[in-house]
Parts: sequence; structure tokens; C-alpha cells
Amino acid sequence: MSSIAVYPGTFDPITFGHIDMIQRSLRLFDKVIVAVAQDTMKETLFSLTERVNLAKTALSNTAGVEVQGFRGLLVEWMHVHNWNMIVRGVRWADDMHDEWKIAMINKNLASDIETVWLTALPKYGHISASIVRHIAQLQGDVTPMVPACVVEVLRGKY
Ligand code: COA
Repeated sequence: MSSIAVYPGTFDPITFGHIDMIQRSLRLFDKVIVAVAQDTMKETLFSLTERVNLAKTALSNTAGVEVQGFRGLLVEWMHVHNWNMIVRGVRWADDMHDEWKIAMINKNLASDIETVWLTALPKYGHISASIVRHIAQLQGDVTPMVPACVVEVLRGKY
């Protein structure tokens, strides 16, 4: 039986940090589902369709990855598909504060679903989607942080 992991996030937009996590998850799992959330507690710059399409383009050459948007609770959507493994990335100790909470919430909602954490590579530790948006808005260079398709769309937005 093939192993499947779900890598959920807002991906507003997808960054090299996310892509590194996805590629490294593929060493542990046969398939990674990149799950782009509609319902997060954040106001997004990009629509769900835009975020899904950017992730699809950025990952078009990565075998074993599927990008899907979802609405509602992550764990309920996973149950519909019979998936039971969540992968999340941790960049530094501070991230654990929120990640711990999310994992506990999900565990309380669905005890059959497990969360595993992978530590991000230090070279991506400074990257976050909001930093990318901030720098792009101020006409700064985001090419070291995001794939070319994202750079182009950000130029169009700002
Ligand atoms: N490299 C670079 N950046 C990374 C990263 C990595 N390895 N891992 C995370 N990040 C960044 C993201 O870019 C993002 O940056 P930002 O805060 O500047 O936008 C931040 O870390 C974390 O955001 P994200 O991964 O999108 O997580 P989140 O805390 O917004 O939660 C979901 C998103 C999808 C997990 C959560 O909202 C969810 O499950 N929503 C569905 C509804 C639900 O089930 N709710 C109950 C559970 S909370």
C-alpha cells in the first residue's frame, strides 16, 4: 500500500521553503498532497484558485505531488479521502508554539489523524509568505525566495 501525506497550508504564495518541505516529505512518503486551505484565519492576497494554480505550476516537474484546494476543516476533508497523515514544517522553535496548537486541535477533532513535523533547512528559515508579499509590495527582489511563476504574478499584483 502506498503511503500518502497531506501538507496543508495557506500558500499565499508558495515559497522555496514550502517546496523544500514537499521534496523532503517525498523521501518519507510515496505521495504528497499539497492541500491549499480556503478557510484560514488569515486574509489572503491571492484567491484560492490563484494559490492552487501557483502551487501547481511551481510543482509541475515534481513527481509524486498533487495539489488540491479544500474548504472547511482539514481533518474532515482528509476523512473523505481516507488520508491520515499530516506533515508540517517547523523553521525555528517559535513555530512550534503554533504548530503544537494546530496538531492538538486536529488530534482532538480526529484522533485517527497523525501530525509529523520536519525541520526546515536553515537557508529557508527567514522565508515566510507574508515577508515575500511585503518585499514584493515594496518592489524588492523576491527571486531568491519564490519560484519564477510567483515572481511574475506578484509583479502583476503590485
Ligand atoms: N518554509 C517557509 N515558510 C514556511 C514554512 C517553510 N518550511 N512552513 C511554514 N511557513 C510559513 C508560511 O509561509 C506562513 O507564513 P505567513 O504566516 O507569513 O503567511 C506560515 O509559515 C504558516 O502558515 P501556514 O503554513 O499557511 O499555516 P497556518 O498557520 O496559516 O495554518 C492551515 C494553515 C491550513 C494548517 C490551517 O489554517 C487549516 O488547517 N485550515 C483549515 C481549517 C481547519 O481545519 N482549522 C482547524 C485547524 S487550525
